[in-house]
Amino acid sequence: MPSASNFRLVETKLPSLGEGQLLLKALYLSVDPYMRGRISGVKSYAKPVEVGETIVGGGVAEVVESRHPDWKPGDVAEIYMGWQEYAISDGSNLRRIDPSVAPVSTALGVLGMPGFTAYFGLMDVCAPKPGETVLVSGAAGAVGMTVGQVAKILGCRAVGIAGSDEKVKFLVEEVGFDAAYNYRETSNHVPKLREVCPQGIDCYFDNVGGVITDAAILCLNVHGRVCICGQISQYNNTAPEMGPRLFGQLIVSRSKIQGMLVSDYAARFGEAAEKLGKWVKEGRLKYREDIVEGFENMPRAFLGLFTGDNIGKRLVKL
Ligand SMILES: NC(=O)c1ccc[n+]([C@@H]2O[C@H](COP(=O)([O-])OP(=O)(O)OC[C@H]3O[C@@H](n4cnc5c(N)ncnc54)[C@H](OP(=O)(O)O)[C@@H]3O)[C@@H](O)[C@H]2O)c1
Repeated sequence: MPSASNFRLVETKLPSLGEGQLLLKALYLSVDPYMRGRISGVKSYAKPVEVGETIVGGGVAEVVESRHPDWKPGDVAEIYMGWQEYAISDGSNLRRIDPSVAPVSTALGVLGMPGFTAYFGLMDVCAPKPGETVLVSGAAGAVGMTVGQVAKILGCRAVGIAGSDEKVKFLVEEVGFDAAYNYRETSNHVPKLREVCPQGIDCYFDNVGGVITDAAILCLNVHGRVCICGQISQYNNTAPEMGPRLFGQLIVSRSKIQGMLVSDYAARFGEAAEKLGKWVKEGRLKYREDIVEGFENMPRAFLGLFTGDNIGKRLVKL
């Protein structure tokens, strides 16, 4: 587990703008579990952040100065700007945000990367049919909350797993999950899963890995589908955790398990933004933001993801 002492706040002078460039000031910065992987020094699907470099990440920022023909002060954009208050862009890495669709902060949550992850992981990898049971772990987080609701929109039964009674109550009473349970109160997940998923599990959207996932695999129906989206319970491990060998169970259930990476779907982000935006506007897709104030609190906001401090999408407001 990283600690606040692993982070340093550094001030530098901003260079002046060149022709065709614009200066943006962050309104919201995102903290996400994947950043743990970037600072681990372990080879992955993306280049690591080296010691001393700025941590990578998404932000929603306002143009404060522009020498670019398409952007003027006051325009708002999503930009992969990292943990910094300002960014300079040539316009090529910006997604224009329309504040009339939803609050601009949603471009980092339900109408941004986490929402797209939920949408494509569920639609493409799990491909649930109406009436099927969709189980999602990390259910009260940014991705998980969206998965359960999209499953409901598709006519499925949505079941969530989360880390507190407050989160379970929120999922069932406010978000519309059919059932949920608190994994911290359960030592034996298989009977618990059989209780909350009496018809078995057709689709499992995995955000956490570990013992919860081992149990979910044992409860898969024939031709079940598992989307491995995240393994947050493993991100701070320094060695692989030993687990039961469950491949034989996949023969019994003839299930498919597939890893997914949201960036593989970049060419289809417009489709997800349109669908999710429509559902948000219609009130069929709820979202919740967990906002920490102050740039200096980025490390604390990030570390809280690993202790379950957040409900919904965690953001830092500048
Ligand atoms: N594959 C992709 O392209 C992709 C893209 C985005 C996100 N992801 C993954 O999706 C998952 C969810 O991301 P998110 O942004 O929506 O984060 P999030 O769910 O909003 O926040 C992380 C949550 O994980 C839970 N958690 C932390 N440690 C845990 C543990 N040891 N066991 C079980 N749960 C634990 C906590 O909730 P509890 O209180 O419930 O423990 C915490 O609130 C992450 O694993 C992330 O890496 C993958």
